[in-house]
Amino acid sequence: MPDVASVLYGRDDVRSRVREIGRAVTADYAGRQPVLVSVLKGGIWFLADLIRAIDLPLEVHFLAISRYGDAEESLGRVQILLDLDVDLTGRDVLLVEDIVDTGLTCRYLSSVMAARRPASFEVCTLLDKSVRRIAPITPRYVGFDCPDRFVVGYGLDFEERYRNIPDILQVNDIDALKADPDVLGAHLSEA
Ligand code: IMP
Ligand code: MG
Repeated sequence: MPDVASVLYGRDDVRSRVREIGRAVTADYAGRQPVLVSVLKGGIWFLADLIRAIDLPLEVHFLAISRYGDAEESLGRVQILLDLDVDLTGRDVLLVEDIVDTGLTCRYLSSVMAARRPASFEVCTLLDKSVRRIAPITPRYVGFDCPDRFVVGYGLDFEERYRNIPDILQVNDIDALKADPDVLGAHLSEA
């Protein structure tokens, strides 16, 4: 029987890929002072590592959103719970996401940001679950492709658990995880 979850991208792969993205952002935004916007909570682990790999003056701002119903059924019905406290007019905005799945969240946030007249708007996501895409979102920066599996770790949660696993795990047996949400505890002790 396969393990309930297995390592999809280990911490060393994540670290080196984040550095590569940081170098790309540094080159692309040279001479500018980008505003990095992160969505609470899942994006902040990636953001924290990414900003330390960007060799530019930059700003970091957060927003919090809620989705109606569960992710499967929410169909992009997203609401801003905590808004940015920065004027985006004329700024170079980079939205930093943990994962783009259906793309509905990202599409909603893109339209909200675009209405604030930034000079530019791009999306940077650690994981791209492109096979599940409903909204036509093409992130400018992608850390890794993500298979059509539920993933946890490095900020990504299952019912608020497992954000603190340093690796990105793919769940092989989602029913086992739903039946016992603590079943992946062994991965925490390796942290
Ligand atoms: P989207 O609107 O379908 O693109 O959903 C994006 C959000 O759903 C992400 O920011 C995550 O919070 C959550 N999400 C999507 N797939 C996963 C996953 O495999 N693991 C954990 N959270 C996920
Ligand atoms: Mg979540």
